[in-house]
Amino acid sequence: MNFSFVPGDAVRAGGAMLVIPLLDGDLGDSAPAALVDADKALDGKLRAAATQEGFKGKADQSLVLHTLGRLQAERVMLLGLGARARTTPEVLRLAAGRAAKMAQKLKLTELTFVVPETAPAPVAVRAIVEGLMLGVYKFDRYKTTGGKEEKKAPGLGAVRLVLPQGASQGAELEEAVELGRDVAQATNWARDLVNEPANVVHPDRLAQAAQEVAKAAGLKATIGGRREIERLRMGMFLGVAQGSAHEPKLIHLSYVPKNPKDARRAPVALVGKAITFDSGGLSLKPADSMVEMKTDMAGSAAVLAAMRVIGELQPPFPVHAFIGACENMPSGTAYRPGDILTSRLGKTVEITNTDAEGRLVLGDILTWAVEHKPAAIIDLATLTGACVIALGNYIVGAFGDHDATVEQVLSAAKAAGEELWRMPVTELQKDALRSEVADMKNSGERWGGAINAALFLKEFVGDTPWVHLDIAGPSTSPKERGYFNKGATGVGVRTLVEFVRQRAASPEQEPARETAAAARPAKGKARSKTARA
Ligand code: BES
Ligand code: MN
Ligand code: ZN
Repeated sequence: MNFSFVPGDAVRAGGAMLVIPLLDGDLGDSAPAALVDADKALDGKLRAAATQEGFKGKADQSLVLHTLGRLQAERVMLLGLGARARTTPEVLRLAAGRAAKMAQKLKLTELTFVVPETAPAPVAVRAIVEGLMLGVYKFDRYKTTGGKEEKKAPGLGAVRLVLPQGASQGAELEEAVELGRDVAQATNWARDLVNEPANVVHPDRLAQAAQEVAKAAGLKATIGGRREIERLRMGMFLGVAQGSAHEPKLIHLSYVPKNPKDARRAPVALVGKAITFDSGGLSLKPADSMVEMKTDMAGSAAVLAAMRVIGELQPPFPVHAFIGACENMPSGTAYRPGDILTSRLGKTVEITNTDAEGRLVLGDILTWAVEHKPAAIIDLATLTGACVIALGNYIVGAFGDHDATVEQVLSAAKAAGEELWRMPVTELQKDALRSEVADMKNSGERWGGAINAALFLKEFVGDTPWVHLDIAGPSTSPKERGYFNKGATGVGVRTLVEFVRQRAASPEQEPARETAAAARPAKGKARSKTARA
């Protein structure tokens, strides 16, 4: 998608569709110049039509009118942003997504978008770029119906952004477009990887995807198979993988800064759950819950996509991605309830439910990540149905006891427009994992299931600052909404990228693990950096 800037006069800009975002009440006296001008050119009929149609500027409202040659633009789209007090860049991102879907429906190849003054221009521009590019995303490669012509339609290729009066058109805006574009492309790439069925995306395909990322972003990729996993004595990972006909893969991507001083700094480690299909294993899932389980590698897709952007960002510290990819299948070779597995860390685990497989693989991968002495570990995992019960389909659960690092992740999510909610990792629940025959068991009582899973993971991170994000709910969207489609969302990519950006902008250097505990939450400074998008 190609973006260009046009200053000032929205009505002159023309195009196939002029999109004017409006706050609730903007039809009245607070109307922005673009609306006043367009309305004037249409003899007051634009506002009159809006009133007739009940358009008020509420979030989710929109109205498309043909201008019948009375305006340079063929159509006008009024796009509701909702209440002024509640406008965030995410509101604009979602609205831009709706405009993109409308343009797609009308088969438009270009449009003109008025940049509202609800945020500083670079912030608004980045949100619009992301909203439009995420909004046109479709996963339809397996549809053989619909006609070749429709498929080959060129799509939305050019967008003119009308800047508010007085906004300077400098490098800052160009950077906002570039970053928005990189992040949206990476997110759509993650969505593809998640939407692809499990007969296509198996562990080996995921490893190939990692290799593609490394090549595109200039990272180092190391891929291992079963032999390497055995060598590393990852007994829990091997247990989960042993029922599948597909060989498990161990994936390590690393970004290392060119400056040797930066390269010696403590890295950030990203860990992603990568169960390419979760049947539940011998503790087989019911048919209905199994249908969605190609999604169970969404954590790793987000981590890989974020690494793509991080390679471009070139932060002044190393960033590693650690992924253990396998399939959870029932078979004659599958691990069984009652089996006792020995983790890389040495702890033994009694299997009470083979469907609690994610924590087993992640436990060994977290141990491996800790060995690289990171300043912080963030893991993303479609880990528990319990988290979906607790927080629903749109909110990520954030777990961890290292307050400063949790705060940094929450602040990054807020700036990136992803919803996170902190959850406790309280020892009160620990009884749930007590085993009679081993150091612990892999699943306990149902109550507090998301916390139990987090507590299990915590056993493997020691003192390393760690944040666990349970994305079981938000990894897919149940319906079309804003820039989302039904299906994979790419959740987490934006938060991870923002976390690394904020850390890169923070003057605080965290040379060693010991000092990381003293780090203050990256609020003040980091925010002002994101304000510059
Ligand atoms: N992959 C699932 C969790 C999940 C549920 C992801 C819904 C996406 C949507 C995970 O491996 C799982 O099966 N968890 C079990 C744990 C239980 C057996 C302790 C669950 O949540 O039921
Ligand atoms: Mn499972
Ligand atoms: Zn799973």
